[in-house]
Amino acid sequence: MNFNSIGLNKEKSESIVKDLNQLLADYQQFYMNLRGFHWNIKGASFFELHVKFEELYNDINLKVDEIAERILALNGSPLHTFTDYQAISDIKEVKNMTDGPTIIGELLKDYQILIKQQREILEKASNNSDEGTVTLMSDYITAQEKTVWMLSAYLGK
Ligand SMILES: [Fe+2]
Repeated sequence: MNFNSIGLNKEKSESIVKDLNQLLADYQQFYMNLRGFHWNIKGASFFELHVKFEELYNDINLKVDEIAERILALNGSPLHTFTDYQAISDIKEVKNMTDGPTIIGELLKDYQILIKQQREILEKASNNSDEGTVTLMSDYITAQEKTVWMLSAYLGK
């Protein structure tokens, strides 16, 4: 069997790298959408949501770097161009959205996309004894499930 530089099955790790690049593309699109929400939000909830969206995009920004560096640790190469991101991202770009509840609804959909992808990566990493990727995905899922609860509560659901 072929092993990579950290002793993991090479073929399985390459498949995980592919999925992590997909996740990276989605995080990058999500990040840019969040910047737009932070800038364009209007209405009575402006002050709280303007700050909340900044908190969310800062969190996503940190994770973008963690995902890219995990790809490198797995001997892969992280995608780093808008062209590549847009070609594969499941999260689509959102323009000129200004209404708080509409934005929160969009965020809920996007977090659900990320959580689903991360569960699949976690399962695949677990089958490859890839503890580093498992832990990363596990931490993201746990935190984002809490975010989904809070965003739902904001909408009164
Ligand atoms: Fe700002």
